Amino acid sequence: MRQFVRLMRRSLRPLVLGSAVLVLLMSVQAVTPAQQPTPAQTTPLAQTTAPSAELSAAPAELPPLPYPYDALEPTIDAQTMQLHHDEHHATYVENFNEALADYPDLQSRSVEDLLRNLDDLPDDIQTKVRNNGGGHVNHAMFWEIMSPDGGGEPTGALAAQINQTFGSFSEFQSAFEQAGADRFGSGWVWLIVNNSGTLEIVSTANQDTPLMLGFYPIMGNDVWEHAYYLNYQNRRAEYLSAWWNVVNWPEISNRFEQASQDR
Ligand SMILES: [Fe+2]
Repeated sequence: MRQFVRLMRRSLRPLVLGSAVLVLLMSVQAVTPAQQPTPAQTTPLAQTTAPSAELSAAPAELPPLPYPYDALEPTIDAQTMQLHHDEHHATYVENFNEALADYPDLQSRSVEDLLRNLDDLPDDIQTKVRNNGGGHVNHAMFWEIMSPDGGGEPTGALAAQINQTFGSFSEFQSAFEQAGADRFGSGWVWLIVNNSGTLEIVSTANQDTPLMLGFYPIMGNDVWEHAYYLNYQNRRAEYLSAWWNVVNWPEISNRFEQASQDR
C-alpha cells in the first residue's frame, strides 16, 4: 500500500507542477495588459508638441480671414491680402483635398497629424500633402497671428522666455528678420519651441512646416514673394521690418502657452 501511495505521488507530481505553472502563466497574462503603457504614454515625441485644436482633413476648409482685406494697411495692402487668402491659401486647401480624395481613411486624421507623419503616407501623395497641407496649416496660423490692433511687444511668460533666449526683444527681432532675409527663394521664418522646450528661430523652404521636424511653431512670417511683392517688390528686408506693426502678440502668447501645456 505504501508503495502504491509513493507511486501515485510520483505520478501526480508533474501534473501538480504543470497546473501551478499554468495558473502562473494565466495570472501573468491577466496582469500584463494592465501593466503595458497605454498608447498615450507611448505617443511619439513629435505628437507631444501638438496643439489641442487641429485642422480637419474631412475635408479641409479655408478659414475665413478674421478681419477685412484692408485691415492690415499700410503694412500689408488689401489686394495682397485678398490674393493671398482667397487665391493662394484657397488653392492649397483645394489641392490638399484632391490629394486625399482616394484615401478616405486618412481624412479622419488632422492635417497636422498627416504632416507630422509624412513618411507613413502613400508615396503618391506625400509631396502633395507636404506642399498643400503645409500651405494650409502655415497660412491658417498666419492670419491669426496678425491683427489690425497688432504691434508692440510680447508680455508675460513669452516675453520672459524671449529675453532669456535672445537677450532682449530687439535682439530677437534682428535675428528673426535676418533668418527671414537669409531664406533663399520661397519659404518661412519661424519661432518654434524645440524638443528641449527652448525657443529657437528656424526657417523652412517652400511650405515646409516645423511640424514635419517635430517642432511646434509659435509664430511664422511668410517670405514668399506673394506675401509682399505688390507693396515691397524685391525689398524683403523692408517687409520683414514693417511686419512687426501687425503682429498679434496675445495670439502668439496663446500658442506659446498651448505648446507649453501640450509638452
Ligand atoms: Fe503665403
